[in-house]
Amino acid sequence: MTERVLTGITTTGTPHLGNYVGAIRPAIAASRAPGVESFFFMADYHALIKCDDPERVARSTLEIAATFLAAGLDTNRVVFYRQSDIPETPELTWLLTCVTAKGQMNRAHAYKAATDANVADGKDIDADISMGLYSYPILMAADILLFNAHRVPVGKDQVQHIEMARDVAQRFNHLYGQGRELFVLPQAEVEEDVATLPGLDGRKMSKSYDNTVPLFEGGPKGLKDAVARIVTDSRLPGEPKDPDGTSLVTIHDAFATPAQRDAFRADLRAGLGWGDAKQRTVELIESHIGPLRATYADLMAHPERVEAALQEGARKARAVARPLLDELRQAVGLRAMVAVVSQKKEARAAHAKLPEFKQYREADGRFFFKLADADGTDLLQSDGLTEGKAAGAWVKRLKTEGSAALADAPVRLVADRAAVDAALSALMAAQA
Ligand code: TRP
Repeated sequence: MTERVLTGITTTGTPHLGNYVGAIRPAIAASRAPGVESFFFMADYHALIKCDDPERVARSTLEIAATFLAAGLDTNRVVFYRQSDIPETPELTWLLTCVTAKGQMNRAHAYKAATDANVADGKDIDADISMGLYSYPILMAADILLFNAHRVPVGKDQVQHIEMARDVAQRFNHLYGQGRELFVLPQAEVEEDVATLPGLDGRKMSKSYDNTVPLFEGGPKGLKDAVARIVTDSRLPGEPKDPDGTSLVTIHDAFATPAQRDAFRADLRAGLGWGDAKQRTVELIESHIGPLRATYADLMAHPERVEAALQEGARKARAVARPLLDELRQAVGLRAMVAVVSQKKEARAAHAKLPEFKQYREADGRFFFKLADADGTDLLQSDGLTEGKAAGAWVKRLKTEGSAALADAPVRLVADRAAVDAALSALMAAQA
């Protein structure tokens, strides 16, 4: 079975070196594994939760998409799309919202961190908290469940959200699945061996700490200037240095082979100056990302090419999402009326095709019945009976007992026995 791997990137910033090493590069590498079907998307609906600057959201979406493409993402192997091009996502979000416990959302980390901060500041507990932030995990669950992803590579801070997606999937399956698994239960995948890159100051590299090394922004000079600002100790060239735990070495190592790592450490211990060490690090990083820069610049200059790639991705994504959503709508009872009407019509049509008994009374006062085929051909004719009730009773017996009652019945065949038998057994089946 092919395994489906899915991940999203919130489009609020310009990709930096930490994003490249921690998320983009490993995602592309993982997408090349055999037996894996990858879905990567720009989480621009999620961006609206944190960012109300339209230009920033639009620009970030382009930059992140162009980065993935420049870094070698193969759109023939990976379904690569923009979240907001998939109308099935908000549609599913609502179905999931209706089966998600509010209490569970109260415990979501992002929401709790915001309420805790409000309380600590003496503000109203929900001050400045939007429903978007509150429901964030449900939108994320919809992203994942819509494609029945098995594995979701994320950072540690997102693991709780995947667990919430599992919970809501389980609940939905239980409520509406009628024994079927409508949703696959996804598994979070935290890559332990992927480096979380430290920033210039040694804390985690993050836009919010303003300590990032740019990936493509600013060109080779931008990279060089940022690396020059990495904080080191004040040891002079010639003095032995302790390479362990320094930002510079960790950033270097993210691009180095084991042999290059060992050599770098040995040289620092032997007194390599920080300036030279930084120069070596810039050259190493440049040797990896330099060749991608031209492609990136080309894509940024031709956003319509990025757009075309995302549209093609959306088409593939929706080909998977739409049929599932149609099934889910049926499951929860959102159904077209015509389906109900046509079921009735079918039932009527089936009924109309049955043979039919007709009862009547002749001018002499006697009661008769006859059996006609669906197309009106007479099959069976009764004798004249003095009691209407008796005629009715015979009709009833013939309908319920079929040909078994023929021997006793006051009737004569007006068609072959085979046709009469077939008609009576059709009526018996319809009775049942
Ligand atoms: N919330 C994720 C983040 O900020 C991004 C994201 C949105 C995502 N939807 C997702 C990640 C679905 C994985 C799967 O990192």
